[in-house]
Amino acid sequence: MVTASAPGKFILFGEHAVVYGKPAIAIAVDRRIEVSIRRSDRPMIDGKHHGGGRSYVNSAVKRLWNNGPLNIRTHSNLPPASGLGSSAALSVATVAALLQMRVRFSRKSVALNAFLTEYEVQGRASPTDTSTSTNGGAVMVGPEGDNVLWTIEKEANNGKMNRWYVSSLELPSDLDFVVGVTGVRSSTASMVDKVKKFVDGSGAGMQIINEIEAIALEGVEALKFGDKSRLGELMNENQSHLFSLGVSHPKLEKLIDAARKHSYGAKLTGAGGGGSMVALTDEPETVMRDIELMGGRPIHVRIDREGVRIEDREG
Ligand code: MEV
Repeated sequence: MVTASAPGKFILFGEHAVVYGKPAIAIAVDRRIEVSIRRSDRPMIDGKHHGGGRSYVNSAVKRLWNNGPLNIRTHSNLPPASGLGSSAALSVATVAALLQMRVRFSRKSVALNAFLTEYEVQGRASPTDTSTSTNGGAVMVGPEGDNVLWTIEKEANNGKMNRWYVSSLELPSDLDFVVGVTGVRSSTASMVDKVKKFVDGSGAGMQIINEIEAIALEGVEALKFGDKSRLGELMNENQSHLFSLGVSHPKLEKLIDAARKHSYGAKLTGAGGGGSMVALTDEPETVMRDIELMGGRPIHVRIDREGVRIEDREG
């Protein structure tokens, strides 16, 4: 049996714009999904028989395994459909366990295969979530950076080749983030689709994407200098652009407003349309209370610096 685990993430800047080749910054968090795989006489996922389907686990198995039935168990500490990267963490942990059963995995091959798995299930995706879950820490996806970990290429439906450089970023140690989970489930695929229609249908959409790009690039500098005030302002600006793109939600705005009273800044994180928001603050306890009072589920997230890992191997 092989067990692998991978962390979730939140996006600090650049969600949605990254799908159009713009930069995004994401941070891995200390909530994991664990996947255990062993050979079996019948294909099983979490106690149920499995075959076709387009789930992340099925898709990874189809991509990487043709060596007999497997019994797969998953265990998650991440709220599903919450913007915290649960589908990416599931893809990364499954791919890592499968590669480890075959030979040994490299982070680069995990990142690539987990991205292709997510892409196949969602129909469109950037490698932000899967690469952050694979590497841990803070990651920038977009233009060529100083510490490139790997590059990922994928031909889009229109035949255009997308290339993303994935780089690691240094993170100041004194950044405190609180996530607020709205409890409103949302689908990344449908949010990405909604933005695509807006961008394809009007110049205004692409202009917003370009403004988010400028925020993410400035965010990299603010992170380098540990400038929390500027980071917070940029988070607030990023939120107003995400609102204009149509991916916010009244419950997100309620939690964001509540959190901002004791934060440098706050914004939705991930695909939006529900899911979660994130705040940068020096008063995590107060912000958690404010989020809870507004009906959200607060999580004081710590940064996961490790990324994907093999938990054990036996049999
Ligand atoms: C989802 O966590 C982030 C999006 O930018 C989609 C993606 O990058 O694949 C909305």
